Amino acid sequence: MTSLLASPAGGPLSGRVSVPGDKSISHRGVLFAAMSAGSCRLTGVLDSADVRSTIEAVRALGAVVLATGRRDGGLDLEVTGWGATGPVRPSGPIDCGNSGTTARLLMGILAGWDVEVSLIGDESLSRRPMSRVMEPLARMGASFSPAAGGTLPLRVCGGRLRAIRYEMPVASAQVKSAILLAGLRAAGRTVVIEPAPSRDHTERLLPGFGVGVGRDAGERACWVDGPARILPSDLSVPGDPSSAAFLAVAALMVPGSAIVLDGVALNPTRTGFVAVLQEMGARLTTSVDRASGAEPVGSISATYSSSLHGVTVAADRIAGLVDEVVILALAATAATGITRFEGVGELRVKESDRLQAVQEGLSALGATVRSGQDWLEVEGPVRLHGGRSDSLGDHRLAMTWAVAGLVARGPVTVERWDAVDVSYPRFAHDLAQLQDGSRVG
Ligand code: S3P
Repeated sequence: MTSLLASPAGGPLSGRVSVPGDKSISHRGVLFAAMSAGSCRLTGVLDSADVRSTIEAVRALGAVVLATGRRDGGLDLEVTGWGATGPVRPSGPIDCGNSGTTARLLMGILAGWDVEVSLIGDESLSRRPMSRVMEPLARMGASFSPAAGGTLPLRVCGGRLRAIRYEMPVASAQVKSAILLAGLRAAGRTVVIEPAPSRDHTERLLPGFGVGVGRDAGERACWVDGPARILPSDLSVPGDPSSAAFLAVAALMVPGSAIVLDGVALNPTRTGFVAVLQEMGARLTTSVDRASGAEPVGSISATYSSSLHGVTVAADRIAGLVDEVVILALAATAATGITRFEGVGELRVKESDRLQAVQEGLSALGATVRSGQDWLEVEGPVRLHGGRSDSLGDHRLAMTWAVAGLVARGPVTVERWDAVDVSYPRFAHDLAQLQDGSRVG
């Protein structure tokens, strides 16, 4: 078990870094390539524990993955997929580690094949709800044997599927993607309707693999027509905006900072946190400078912002910033007034109960935080004090406590720091580089 000492003595942040590859796009790139009938070259794939879980999973299911490490810490992959012959029965259970995306998207992919596969995961993943995926996939014709409570470990028994029209009770890109991927094996049109817009990487990326995806933004609906063949395609993975959010908030909060984060995916379904911080008065801008396949890519500039103020974030915006609520809550400790997040109950079923964790963790550092079953309020401004903060094995909490240590009166020791390996193993390295940048400048 490792810990990290994050201290205000590090000084301002300056300079530029490229954040690692996007986690959601990396998972999808590996999975779609594994499903394809041919060889795909994926560049700039995130090298993290979660994506490694997906790579090992597709290998166990018969795809061939050749991986080369890049100098920037990412991975280049050559993936040869199983195509029309489908996945093979793996020799044992597939370990999804900490990764909800691996487990849920695999359930959708396996649902349409005549295989039986057991999925297992770590303690956190084994607590997370899977009925939200099993229920629609069972309607399509797959069957599941989960643990009591509808969680992992579970066995997927795939088979012949029928197309469905499904109104999702929760806005979740993982559920939406699982149904669309199952729909590729069902005869007819599979339609998914979301209660609020969630990240749309599956819809954007599948056409590159030869699969048309219909969309009606007004109705928040998307669909695929099956059965569909997945063709090989190359993919370059842009930087992860969710990872960028932690460095951006650090720069907004540490006096004297000014940084630029390059090569970030600026897909509008992921940049909700940018809009919220701008509404709070942050000196934060984005600039799209190219398209990487179907994803807009550019830079995020963040400058120390001394006059942040509280805002209310309505429930229908949460799916667009679901992974950033904890770091936004930290930013809110520096804002004058109340920052309120509505409809954030989903945070209770992430890698940890993030609502409870953020309330307890920020309060322990001196913040004023209130929460209910599905809302969170932070009242500021308050200067945090140092202390010991536990990641609870949750990567986004680990990085939030590390940023808290940069702005608190005294250092913060982040316990179970190694959780950061799930999405941003080089976080401390990139942060140190930005701190060095300011010393050199
Ligand atoms: C993800 C979707 C989100 C997000 C997760 C990645 C994805 O989960 O929290 O980190 O890649 O589809 P939900 O879809 O369950 O909200």
